[in-house]
Amino acid sequence: MGRIKIIGTGSYVPEKILTNYDLEKMVDTSDEWIVTRTGIKERRIASPDEATSDMIIEASKKALENAGIKAQDIDLIIVATVTPDNLFPSTACWVQKALGLKDIPALDISAACPGFLYALILAESLILSKKNKRVLVAGAEMLSKITNWEDRSTCVLFGDGAGVAILEEGDDESGILSSYWAADGSLGDLLIQPAGGSRMPATYETVEKKLHTVHMKGNEVFKHAVKKMGEAALKALSKAGLTGEDIDIFIPHQANIRIIEATCERLKVPKEKVYINIHKYGNVSAATIPIALDELNREGKLKKGDVILMDSFGAGFTWSAVVMRW
Ligand code: COA
Repeated sequence: MGRIKIIGTGSYVPEKILTNYDLEKMVDTSDEWIVTRTGIKERRIASPDEATSDMIIEASKKALENAGIKAQDIDLIIVATVTPDNLFPSTACWVQKALGLKDIPALDISAACPGFLYALILAESLILSKKNKRVLVAGAEMLSKITNWEDRSTCVLFGDGAGVAILEEGDDESGILSSYWAADGSLGDLLIQPAGGSRMPATYETVEKKLHTVHMKGNEVFKHAVKKMGEAALKALSKAGLTGEDIDIFIPHQANIRIIEATCERLKVPKEKVYINIHKYGNVSAATIPIALDELNREGKLKKGDVILMDSFGAGFTWSAVVMRW
């Protein structure tokens, strides 16, 4: 039985760039504060008529082209997102329609920032168990549409974008070597979109109180992120019989440059092996890792045999790491 490998990647970010200087005109903040506290310089913002599936469709076309296959070769679509087009139907079903596919399963998963890694783990096991052959996995978010643009503690952090990877079984040493995933629902209130679901359906009051936007206890989340990002990576590495020193490329979730630096220190991964794009996009939640993967792939920075570590933490809380050989 071969390993499950990525045969194509694609990504899409909206054209509009919102810089820290633009934000200085919107809330009481400064470029200096945002850069030193987070590492973010700018982020992409979708247009009012754009939805999450629109971004995935663009990224999917590029991934299909990169893989050298047709949409009809896909037999399962998994979309990881916490900002779907609608609560239902799933965003994956809109993607299926746009790609002209019929009679294949399509589903969304909600695991916040590690959503793409959760989806990779699911896709891997479905292919290994022969349920599916070729899976399109997307991580996509339109966080600008659930951001409170008057709250300086959150509005400087997030951005929009989508990344896609296509997976199938390989016949050599390349592919997923190991993975780890976990969650702790007891800490869900620390990072939450409170209203809009069955717990607190939409009312005039929920809209007025901005309860449909991201609410976060930033410094609490920070502490857990540092701890769990390190833990997930070490567990996945140990399952593969590797250490941080065996990593060729580390793709961490890009929520805060200080979280990335602390994780690298714990894993003993040197700076030159870490891929960082937080300055360009901010935190794009589930889209962060697949966008980074696609950028590396298109820049020719992924060499056959490279060991890649992907590692993420987010709302839930959820955390996950995947080790793969390119
Ligand atoms: N501009 C200027 N000042 C700001 C600010 C902004 N955009 N946002 C917050 N501040 C202020 C706060 O009001 C506070 O002021 P006070 O001391 O007068 O009360 C001060 O900066 C420090 O706030 P704090 O929240 O403690 O800052 P921090 O160093 O923890 O950084 C985050 C805030 C959000 C950048 C950081 O906590 C973080 O990255 N958290 C984790 C994010 C994350 O991982 N998200 C989830 C995974 S998806």
